Amino acid sequence: MAEIRIRNTGERISGEEKVKAFLENQGVLYEHWDAGKLPENLRNKFVLSDEEKKEILNVFDSEIRDLASRRGYLTWDVIALSDATPNLDELLKKFEQVHTHTEDEVRAIAAGNGIFIIKGSEDVGYFDVELTAGDVISVPEEKPHFFTLMEDRQIVAVRLFIETEGWIAHPFEDPEFKK
Ligand SMILES: [Fe+2]
Repeated sequence: MAEIRIRNTGERISGEEKVKAFLENQGVLYEHWDAGKLPENLRNKFVLSDEEKKEILNVFDSEIRDLASRRGYLTWDVIALSDATPNLDELLKKFEQVHTHTEDEVRAIAAGNGIFIIKGSEDVGYFDVELTAGDVISVPEEKPHFFTLMEDRQIVAVRLFIETEGWIAHPFEDPEFKK
């Protein structure tokens, strides 16, 4: 289940209802899928064949189609990252820069962990959303954010798009952001 950490105060928020309410307040969609639907052989696998990616999409087909029909997504795929990913450190360096997109960034975590760092309202500032299997998040369009892995450095996530070009990252230089 997702947890929030507010960077300025170190305050943590946990528990589905509180996390959901906090994120809703910040304009961030948060939902939860049953990650237990994933077959056991895929729960701890971070290097995936095309067949295995298709299998993951099939397992969550009804959840994906429900979300897509409510929010207008037209395409989806599966991304897997781990130490087996070539140039993972370089990739993470590229990821770890505050940016925006012209469409929202949707991720449903199938396995592993990840963090979205998001610029919240003025009184909150930047906050981390730590995600685990089953968590579904949508960072709104034009909201400054970035994504990185957690200590386990592995994740499998479903991504949904309205159109793939809408997902290009636009750097957001922010003197208020402190690493
Ligand atoms: Fe992004």
